[in-house]
Amino acid sequence: MSVEGVQPKLIIHGGAGGHLQSEAGEIIVRQALHSIVEKMYPLLLEGEHATEVAVKTCQLLEDKTIFNAGTGSVLQSDGQIRMSASIMDGAKQRFSGVINVSRVKNPIAIAQFLQGEDDRVLSDYGSAELLRELNVPIYDPLIDIRLKEWMQERYDHFHHKMAGVVAEQELTLPHEARRGTIGVVVLDRYGKIVAGTSTGGKGLERIGRVSDSAMPAGNYANKYAGVCCTGIGEDIIDECLAAKIVIRVTDGLPLQEAMLRSMKECQENKRDLGVIAISHDGEIAWGKTSEVILTCYHDGEKIGDSLDWEDEDKELIDFRR
Ligand code: GLY
Repeated sequence: MSVEGVQPKLIIHGGAGGHLQSEAGEIIVRQALHSIVEKMYPLLLEGEHATEVAVKTCQLLEDKTIFNAGTGSVLQSDGQIRMSASIMDGAKQRFSGVINVSRVKNPIAIAQFLQGEDDRVLSDYGSAELLRELNVPIYDPLIDIRLKEWMQERYDHFHHKMAGVVAEQELTLPHEARRGTIGVVVLDRYGKIVAGTSTGGKGLERIGRVSDSAMPAGNYANKYAGVCCTGIGEDIIDECLAAKIVIRVTDGLPLQEAMLRSMKECQENKRDLGVIAISHDGEIAWGKTSEVILTCYHDGEKIGDSLDWEDEDKELIDFRR
């Protein structure tokens, strides 16, 4: 098969964590994820490159207020929003990202800009300087429900260790953690893989806490595979999960096997997380140790999702070829 003939693949996620709390919420999340895949997959068929599609797809997810990234991000312990995002270009094996950036609409666009720079990962102060240099408009990603959640936590003397992030906007003050991030893995028709991840963090975290989402532990790719993680950042970092799965595929394991082995390790270590991945031979896979992972994919033939895949299934991974 010529490189031009590669069947494009796309998988996205809107976080992992506890069960969705209502059927209405499930419909909202499913519609949001499906509409984005429906819009983005045709771009890959038209020959658009993986980086552009990954960034556009992440932006659409960041703009959906039901997910904890971009607009709708959770508040940290001091009531401020600080977001993190990264892009990993698998063909170039190049990582770039921003850590704890504030007052910007699409952190993933800044991560993309940094792909072309010598200094490719910037933290809060440096990110703010860059936004000023690039004349990026100031933007407040706060939505009412996130403020209400934070106010309730304040009222409760910050009893919870992290925000009850839900991907269901109509719910108020839920205490079931959902630990959302958003993530995208793309295989384009030229055989190139790109992974992108963006997050508002855990919520209620200490100022300066660094998320996995702008680390290779949470978002990694090379020419063999691309992986995005979601869930508790510290668990993902301790497993070095995205990089581990990619390296296993690089060393010859099929993606399905690499995912299963890695997720078994996560289960043994009592981690709370989810993963999406694509390999160079077009396999799509997702996994979770949490109750649910909110994924949606296009396997070249049709769109599918993981919303009905719950912990009763007792499986750690699922996949499509
Ligand atoms: N996985 C997102 C975070 O823990 O910040």
